[in-house]
Amino acid sequence: MNIRRARVEDIPHMQACNLRNLPENYTNKYWKYIYQLFIFASYVYHCATWPSISYVAENDKGQIVGYILAKMCESFSILIKKPPESEPPHGHVTSISVLRSYRRLGIAKKLMLQSQESMSTIYRASRVSLHVRKSNRAALSLYRDTLGFEVEDIEKKYYADGEDAYAMRLVLKHD
Ligand code: ACO
Repeated sequence: MNIRRARVEDIPHMQACNLRNLPENYTNKYWKYIYQLFIFASYVYHCATWPSISYVAENDKGQIVGYILAKMCESFSILIKKPPESEPPHGHVTSISVLRSYRRLGIAKKLMLQSQESMSTIYRASRVSLHVRKSNRAALSLYRDTLGFEVEDIEKKYYADGEDAYAMRLVLKHD
C-alpha cells in the first residue's frame, strides 16, 4: 500500500470512492447530480489550494482505494488582518474514506496521521477539526479511540437528512 499526496487528476477516483462509501449523503435523486458537480469543484479547490495536506492510498496496481481531503481554515483572519495570535490556523478534515474491501488494515489511520503531520509542519496548525455523523461508529472509533479526538460540540441537523453531527477536534503538538 502506498500513501502519497493527492493530485487533481486523482479527483474522479476520490469522488467515486466517496460516492460508494457515503451513499447516505446523496439520497435525494434530484439533487444527486448537482451535488456531485459541487463536490467535484470543492475537491479541485481543496487540492489546488492546499496541495500538501490531502492524500490518497493506492493498492499494488496503482488504484486509489482510500483518500483524505483536508483544508486549512486561516484565510478569514488573514483577510481581515487580525493579529496572528488571535486565530492560529487550524486544519479541517473535509472527507475521508476507504473502500470496503480495504478496511481495518490501518489505511484511514495512516491517512489521518500523514495529513495531521503536514498540517502541523507546513502550516503550523494548532489543531485539527472535523464533523462526523452521530451514528458513524467506525469513524467515531477511529477519531476518538485511535487518534484521541474529543467531541467539541453537537451540531443539530448538520446533515441534509436531518442527522446530528459531532464536531470533533484534536490539538496538534509542536516540538
Ligand atoms: N468498527 C469499530 N471501530 C473501527 C471500525 C469499525 N468498523 N473501523 C475502524 N475502526 C477504528 C478501530 O479502532 C481501528 O483500529 P483497529 O483496527 O486496530 O481496531 C481504527 O479505527 C483504525 O482503523 P483503520 O483500519 O485505519 O480504518 P479504515 O481504513 O477501515 O477506515 C473509515 C475507517 C474511513 C471510517 C472507513 O470505515 C470508511 O471509509 N467508512 C465509510 C466512509 C466514512 O464513514 N468516512 C468518515 C466520514 S466523517 C469525515 O469524512 C470527516
